[in-house]
Amino acid sequence: MKILVVGSGGREHALCWAIRKSPLCSALYCAPGNAGIAEVADCLPVPVSDVPGLVALAQEKAVDLVMVGPEGPLVAGLVDALAAAGIKAVGPTAAAARLEGSKGFMKDFCARHAIPTAAYARFTDAAAAKAYVRAQGAPIVVKADGLAAGKGVVVATTEAEALAAIDMMMTERAFGDAGGELVIEEFLVGEEASFFALIDGETAIPLGAAQDHKAVGDGDTGPNTGGMGAYAPAPVMTSEMAERVMAEIVRPTAAGMAAEDCPFAGVLFAGLMITAKGPRLIEFNVRFGDPECQVLMTRLKSDIVPLLLAVPERALDRVSPEWHDDAALVVVMAARGYPGTPMKGTEIRGLDAANAVEGAQVFHAGTRAENGRILADGGRVLGVAARGRDVREAQARAYAAVDRIDWPEGFCRRDIGWRALAPRGKNS
Ligand code: AMP
Ligand code: GLY
Repeated sequence: MKILVVGSGGREHALCWAIRKSPLCSALYCAPGNAGIAEVADCLPVPVSDVPGLVALAQEKAVDLVMVGPEGPLVAGLVDALAAAGIKAVGPTAAAARLEGSKGFMKDFCARHAIPTAAYARFTDAAAAKAYVRAQGAPIVVKADGLAAGKGVVVATTEAEALAAIDMMMTERAFGDAGGELVIEEFLVGEEASFFALIDGETAIPLGAAQDHKAVGDGDTGPNTGGMGAYAPAPVMTSEMAERVMAEIVRPTAAGMAAEDCPFAGVLFAGLMITAKGPRLIEFNVRFGDPECQVLMTRLKSDIVPLLLAVPERALDRVSPEWHDDAALVVVMAARGYPGTPMKGTEIRGLDAANAVEGAQVFHAGTRAENGRILADGGRVLGVAARGRDVREAQARAYAAVDRIDWPEGFCRRDIGWRALAPRGKNS
């Protein structure tokens, strides 16, 4: 089977790495890919924003399956365009991708189907939004409706901060059209976890949970990023909690989307707050998380290809993935300057030595190759993943691999996994 993966980050490297191991895969392409992906797939220079170009590429290579990594092309209708060309893909249609693409759509959908999430109101008018904030008081959460590269959320601890966020998003349009509408919602208290499921339009199967670390600095300090590291399994996600998430959030979402004639097929990533009253949905993403995907792929024991293929073939009721008992942990190495303007073009050495650490696997997130050298080409540049008997061993191996990487212009957090290693009850 010929497979095309769309994207160029650590998530896509991890997916390509897992797909490459499958005896069912006869050819693997990635658009546009990166220097690490090029070691396992044939990388082709079509950007993820070029929907017609991606469809043409899939046709030219006669691929049997397209796995879409990031949300952008999903929201832009890549899966619709592939379907129109008769090409199977893993990912939702543009209409179903509104679960991530429009926070207002997601909140109203949850209200219609009694899916537990923070209480909220939607606004297209700044004055009305401000009046609501004054009436509710702080803490309160202000969100731009549309995609804002993970930055369109302000958790305001004071009323003044919330009012400033409304001005920034709606009046000054800091995120462009994404801020034309706002969702303002209740502040939830608890421990966060990322929960993943595959849905084929009808059947949903769990893929497990992970926890990531959004802040750039140790001890969860500094500005938020796309994620500086992750680990799985997440201790907060006991099997009882996972069953509640499936019963209260994931299956009602699959059923609700189908009932609304907008069936969801693809990866559903539920960003959760585990509160004293149970799981509450913070947000949906319609794709794997990055770096979470790297730990999920590291723990996956089964062949990934039949799982992916079951999504467009509506056959998830016939597959059940197996996982290694081990824990997995990934440390993101970023270029100096990230999450502001990262330094580009600096050389990275020692990757082979890092990969030689037992249980370790380095995924490339933002690299390019030049004359046989590997250069940094993004903010988050590497994901250094490792498996171990428990989170502590996985962490020790991942940092042993990090320490073999010779890249003076790179940095990472030194405390990935702390929540899983702290005494329970003292970490929320
Ligand atoms: P989002 O982009 O929606 O995932 O939000 C980014 C981060 O803001 C989340 O990971 C949470 O840490 C925080 N957040 C979002 N919504 C809420 C909420 N209602 N209550 C508390 N924290 C939230
Ligand atoms: N790591 C969070 C995300 O992929 O959205």
